[in-house]
Amino acid sequence: MHAVGIVPAAGSGLRLGADRPKALVPLAGRALVRWSVDTLRASGVGDVVVAVPGDELAAFAAVLPADVRLVVGGATRTASVRAALAAAPEAADAVLVHDAARPLTPTDVVARVLGALAGGAPAVVPVLPVVDATVSVDGDGVVTGALPRETLRRVQTPQGFARPVLADAYDRLPPGAELADDAAVVRAAGVPVSTVAGDERSAKVTVPHDLALAELAVAR
Ligand code: CTP
Ligand code: MG
Repeated sequence: MHAVGIVPAAGSGLRLGADRPKALVPLAGRALVRWSVDTLRASGVGDVVVAVPGDELAAFAAVLPADVRLVVGGATRTASVRAALAAAPEAADAVLVHDAARPLTPTDVVARVLGALAGGAPAVVPVLPVVDATVSVDGDGVVTGALPRETLRRVQTPQGFARPVLADAYDRLPPGAELADDAAVVRAAGVPVSTVAGDERSAKVTVPHDLALAELAVAR
C-alpha cells in the first residue's frame, strides 16, 4: 500500500485569533502544519500534499520540507481537500487526510488507520468516546432531550481512504457543497466508514486554550 498524506492547512484560524493563519502559528517553536507533516512522515507516509492559503505560499514553504507539495486551498475545508487530492501522486492507492490543526497526533494513531486500510477497509476514522452528558436544546437554550452517549463518538484525523473511494466521492459531491470532514464526503456516497481508537493527544487546536494545553503537553 502506498499512502499519500493530504494536510488541509488553508484555514485562517478565526477562532484562534492569532496574527497569522492558524497552521503557521508556532507550538514550541514549530509551526502547527510542520508538526502534522512530521507525524505523517514519522509514520512512513512520505508523499505529502499541503493545501495552503493562496497568499501564503512562501510562508508555508519556509516552514516545511522542500519536497512537500503545496497547493492553493479553497474557501472551505472541503474545497481545500479537493484541491490537494487533485495534486496527489498517481502512484498512491491510499489517502490519509490529516488536519494541520492536530499537531500532537501520536504515530500510533496513524498506524491504526493504515492498518485498517491494509485490512481492506474503504474508509476509516479515529474516534474517542463522548465523556460528558450530551443534550439537545431549543432556540432559547432550553434542554429538549438527552442523546445516548454510548452510541456517540468524537471524530479525529488522520482519516484514511482507499484512493478511488475518496476520489469518486469527491467527484460526486456538488461543487459548492461543504461537509464537516472527509468521512462525511464518502458517507454521502454510500461508503461504510469504520473506526479505530483515536487519542486525546490528537486534540484539535481551535481556540487559544487548546494551544495553551498543547504547549503544556509538549513541555512535559
Ligand atoms: N481548512 C482548510 N481550508 C479551509 C478551511 C479550513 O484547509 N478553507 C483546514 C484548516 O487549516 C485546519 C482544518 O481544515 O487545518 C480544520 O479546520 P479548522 O480547525 O476549522 O481551522 P480554521 O478554519 O483555520 O479555523 P476557524 O474555523 O476557527 O477559522
Ligand atoms: Mg474552520
